[in-house]
Amino acid sequence: MSQPANPQSSPQPIRHPVYGKEDASYQAAGGLEGLTKLVKDFYHVMSTLPEAQRIRAMHPQDLTVSSDKLALFLSGWLNGPRLFSEKYGKGISMPRAHTHLPIIDEDRVAWMKCMELALQQQDYEEEFKQYLLTQLNVPASRIVTLCEHQASN
Ligand code: HEM
Repeated sequence: MSQPANPQSSPQPIRHPVYGKEDASYQAAGGLEGLTKLVKDFYHVMSTLPEAQRIRAMHPQDLTVSSDKLALFLSGWLNGPRLFSEKYGKGISMPRAHTHLPIIDEDRVAWMKCMELALQQQDYEEEFKQYLLTQLNVPASRIVTLCEHQASN
């Protein structure tokens, strides 16, 4: 006996990729090449934007490793290949990797501003840029909560 037709499985015209689904976000970001460029532009903005100098100073002078880590992390975070854990070891809790830093909400605003300005330089769909900013603000807020909690103890 054949399976009853599932109305939900009938083909639907896809107008936009559903960014959270499978590796749609990773693809929308241009894969590792796109993420590498995004992160390069992000750190360039961070190095030049006056209000980002506090967070820039929390990073090493040479941003090579920081850039590599962020691009590889974002690959897995966007459901692409889990390159960060392959290269730097498994089990990273990304928010916890920040708790030794004196990050406050003002730093989150500066970090998000750098990302917003870097995204403006990418050839991404406008909808995807907005999606990414909204999604990144979630761990960024979590980092502030953890760091402020750590600092008050
Ligand atoms: C609240 C805003 C944030 C600030 C101020 C901030 C700042 C920093 C700083 C200063 C470092 C240390 C760099 C180093 O010592 O090499 C770092 C590392 C890192 N950050 Fe952030 N960050 C923020 C948000 C985020 C977000 C939202 C993500 C990813 C979604 C992220 C991913 C990473 C990764 C993967 C590392 C490397 C961790 C490691 O060394 O193992 N950060 N961040």
